[in-house]
Amino acid sequence: MTDSLLSKQQYDNFRDFLEDSCGIVLGDNKHYLVTSRLNKLTHEFSFDSLSTMLDELKRKNDAKLKERVIDAMTTNETSWFRDVYPFELLKENIIPEIINTNKPNRFRIWSAACSTGQEPYSISMTINEFQMKSPGKLSMPVEIVGTDISNTVLNLARRAEYDQLSVARGLPEEKKKLFFSCMDGDRWKLNDKVKSIVRFSEINLLQNYALIGKFDLIFCRNVLIYFSADMKSDILNRMAKILNPGGFLILGGSESPTGYSRAFDMVRFPKGVVYRLKDETS
Ligand SMILES: C[S@@+](CC[C@H](N)C(=O)[O-])C[C@H]1O[C@@H](n2cnc3c(N)ncnc32)[C@H](O)[C@@H]1O
Repeated sequence: MTDSLLSKQQYDNFRDFLEDSCGIVLGDNKHYLVTSRLNKLTHEFSFDSLSTMLDELKRKNDAKLKERVIDAMTTNETSWFRDVYPFELLKENIIPEIINTNKPNRFRIWSAACSTGQEPYSISMTINEFQMKSPGKLSMPVEIVGTDISNTVLNLARRAEYDQLSVARGLPEEKKKLFFSCMDGDRWKLNDKVKSIVRFSEINLLQNYALIGKFDLIFCRNVLIYFSADMKSDILNRMAKILNPGGFLILGGSESPTGYSRAFDMVRFPKGVVYRLKDETS
């Protein structure tokens, strides 16, 4: 049987490794979480125990093992139109403002930490619906960039085929009919129109992302909760730098820039709260 017990030193080393490589902060008592998520990998990589695998991880820079360990420790939980209100705000408040101010000659949206694609594709469906209901109003090109630290989830996102269970999570029936086609009894394929304005790229939020260009809107939801206060500040301040003037930031329901970054003002719309880049000139 595989020995899954870790010494305090090994656990602390692993905590440091995880925080340094992807920002996730593990509490003091998460031994069970670590062993339950990593034991399978121990077998897969043919180590005789979890501690041997973690020692190897520390000693050698094995990119494949590192990637798989990070994959196993991250939570990829997501759903279509998660929390609903961000997509209503997008349709009712943000798109009209983008049109009225007529600022950008294209509308760029970043879905940071997008997991298997439900978030950027929900944004794309919202934009498609707006364009169908109000033809010609949003005439500028729209580009949505979905990023994540994990190539495994990004490959699933790029494929844009979902089983019955994932399709059922949050996707209203009328949107399923409008935007998906059934491949066989159990799998659903997203249509090309929704896919065509979304592209995916591997980005670790801890690292530099200045190269992906400027955005008018950033969705960064349900990922900052895993990071330390310093990391949250650093990420939010760097996101502020790549927002166009007046650009918006949408965070998860339990996340806020308050206490971490002064770069944003809170904006209350009837359906919920978003954050807007502060106008430094006022
Ligand atoms: C809980 S999911 C959130 C997905 C989506 N934003 C939503 O709200 O439904 C968190 C995602 O963050 C990604 N993630 C974790 N650490 C990351 C990092 N340092 N950089 C980029 N993505 C990261 C994980 O791979 C995972 O797919």
